[in-house]
Amino acid sequence: MKNVKILWLIIVLLLALSGFLIKKFIIGGGNVEASTDGRSTVVMTKDERDFILKEMREFLISVQGVSQAITENDMPKVVDLAHKAGMAAEANTPSVLLQKIPLAMKKLGFDTRSKFDEIAETAKTSKDPVAARKQLDTLLQNCIACHAIYRLAEPK
Ligand code: HEC
Repeated sequence: MKNVKILWLIIVLLLALSGFLIKKFIIGGGNVEASTDGRSTVVMTKDERDFILKEMREFLISVQGVSQAITENDMPKVVDLAHKAGMAAEANTPSVLLQKIPLAMKKLGFDTRSKFDEIAETAKTSKDPVAARKQLDTLLQNCIACHAIYRLAEPK
């Protein structure tokens, strides 16, 4: 009888542990709290927030540059700017920071990066400015979507 109890205890502990691991690494709940403006607030350190906001300002610069290069039909420049804003830029993101970001937000962020890569690919292969412009229009929907759902906590 005693052995059975111990077995059950081990089973319960293992279940709890796997639940914890699944939540932490697969669902990746992130460090989130409710916000007074209806969005979700992602909580991080001051330096991490500065890092993200700087990435954001660079996003805006990239969008402007890519848009202008498309208008000027300068496809090599589109390739260059879009590639720099694509997944290549993600190499610098600290993994500790990634753990604090909820999965849906990470997905939107990575999807935005790959959309820049797709624009670079279009500019390189078909060189069609209208196709690249359409892709940029779709990419901008990601900026809007993420800003509608998430905000960053003010540093304390
Ligand atoms: C995965 C989510 C996400 C995506 C995608 C995203 N942003 Fe952001 N962005 C944020 C969050 C969160 C903030 C902080 C908003 C707040 O705290 O109110 C922010 C803030 C900003 C800011 C303000 C920066 C500052 O210094 O205060 C700019 C500019 C910006 N984003 C531009 C963009 C552009 C342009 C795109 C698309 C190319 C984009 N963002 C895509 C999440 C995102």
